[in-house]
Parts: sequence; structure tokens; C-alpha cells
Amino acid sequence: MRKRLKEKLKNQLSPEALSKVYSAFDIIGDIAIVKAPKNPADAQTVAKQIMTTHKKICAVYSQTSAIKGSHRTRQLTLLAGEDNPVTKYKEAGCTFTVDVEKCYFSPRLSHEHLRVASAVSRGEVVVNMFAGVGSFSVITARMVPETKVYSIDINPVAYQFMVENIRVNRVYNRVIPLLGDSKEIVEAKLQGVADRVLMPLPEKALGYLPAAVSALKKSGGWIHYYDFEHAVGEEDPVEKTETKVAEKLGSLGVRFMFAHSHVVRSTGPNWYQTVLDIQVAPQPNKL
Ligand SMILES: C[S@@+](CC[C@H](N)C(=O)[O-])C[C@H]1O[C@@H](n2cnc3c(N)ncnc32)[C@H](O)[C@@H]1O
Repeated sequence: MRKRLKEKLKNQLSPEALSKVYSAFDIIGDIAIVKAPKNPADAQTVAKQIMTTHKKICAVYSQTSAIKGSHRTRQLTLLAGEDNPVTKYKEAGCTFTVDVEKCYFSPRLSHEHLRVASAVSRGEVVVNMFAGVGSFSVITARMVPETKVYSIDINPVAYQFMVENIRVNRVYNRVIPLLGDSKEIVEAKLQGVADRVLMPLPEKALGYLPAAVSALKKSGGWIHYYDFEHAVGEEDPVEKTETKVAEKLGSLGVRFMFAHSHVVRSTGPNWYQTVLDIQVAPQPNKL
């Protein structure tokens, strides 16, 4: 589908304008989000072509700000179609309702959702510290029997959609939605409960690592740690993340190993999203 759209736009836009459109082109349910060319006529060309090529698209929005703030949201401007940023999105057999303007949501993490859910064993307790509308949490609970997921987000709108997504996907008895700051919630009620902690918020992950460790059981467990890393030339973004995290865990006296690490995706020139699967050893001194 993307190839077909690119072919059609090739004759209507300059190569530079075309490559910018594709640097941020996402389809979420019946909504398309693009980084539209600055020239309004070019922006309209893109929007009209998307609606013609992708028949199920009801709205095309231009992303007019970076993803920002503690809720990790972005400003969107309607280019074509009906102004309704709420849509339904299907992933891994689950249906998610999401407001793409008031909540963080990216279909680019779908591979990670599945990868992490596949690593979970039957009966595990998981703490998702930055759950958004509940993608990792709901997919994990649907895929792995008898799991319990504490699913935390600080954005009240994302929390409301998470509650709805838990209900629609019928995992209400196994995904527990929690609204608030994950560090505070872990400190108050989730100390030593988890086999696995998910940290899908690169901007805060390092500062919240002590809370993640404290959420793990005394017998140890797993932390899935996401980061953004700048790397040029010979630099390895994964190694840079590992160095930073190793220092932090070392300073906390935590014994661990990096079981697996990789680049999830490129997020800009010389910028990468990385993930570390950290296996934390049993912590005998833990209360
Ligand atoms: C990158 S998004 C999560 C994406 C989600 N896991 C997914 O795969 O779609 C990060 C989320 O963390 C939430 N957040 C930011 N600061 C937080 C905090 N201190 N405690 C809990 N949630 C927080 C934001 O509201 C946002 O929904």
C-alpha cells in the first residue's frame, strides 16, 4: 500500500518533499498521520492522494509538533476528512481504541509488543510502568494464560482508553489499570511483586530504574528497558545504552546480565531507539 502511494506521489512532489512525508507516515485504524510538506498545496496533494489510495482512511492529519510533554503527545492538524482523532486499531488479535492526539500511540512498536509478550511465561506477574492505552499489557494478558499485569499510566485520557481496551479485550480480571506516576505507585503498593517490569518510556527510564528493580521479586526477574541513543560513525547505540544502565545498576548494587539487546528502530539522523532485556539476579538483601 505504501509503495503504491509513493509511486503516485512521485510525479507530484519533489524527491525531498516526498522523503519527508515518509519519515513520519503512520496508519492507525482509519487515520493517517504524516509529516506534511510545508507548502499548503503540496500538503493537500499528499492528503488527497492518501485518501484516494487508502480507501478505508477517514482522516489525514499532519503532525505539527514533536512528541512532547510528560504524556508524550503530539499536535495534529487536520488536512483532509473528518476531524475525529479517536479510532480503533487491531494488533495481535486485540482491538485498541485510541485518541491519537491526546494519547501516545505508535504502530511502530507492534513487533516489540509481540516479542516481549512471547517472552512471558504462564502465571507471571508483570508491571508495565508506562502503559499508554495498554498495548503491551493487553497483548501480554491475551497471549499468556494466568498472567497478571499491573498497567500504569500518568495520562488520565490514556488511562480511560486503557480501561476500555481491557474491557473490550476481556482481560479485566488480569490487567489492573493504575492511574498515576509509576515510581510513586511502585513505591506505595508494588514492591517485590513482579517477575518482569516493562519500561517503554526512553525519556524517563534511567531515573525510574531503581523503582523498576524494587518492583521485582526477591528471586529476581526481567526488566525490558527502552532508550533513545545518539550514535555516530563507529559508535554502537546499543553499547552506549548498556554502559549507562550498567553504571546505574552497579551503583544500586544489583547483579544482572544483558540477556539480549537490539536497535528497535531508527528515530532520526544518528538517533536510535534501543531495548535491553536485563536479567536481574536474585537479590538476597531485599527486604
Ligand atoms: C511511549 S508511551 C508508552 C507506549 C505504550 N507502552 C505502547 O506501547 O503503546 C509512554 C507513556 O508513559 C506515560 N508516562 C509518562 N510519565 C509517566 C510516569 N511518571 N508514570 C507513569 N506513566 C508515565 C505517558 O503518559 C505515555 O502514555
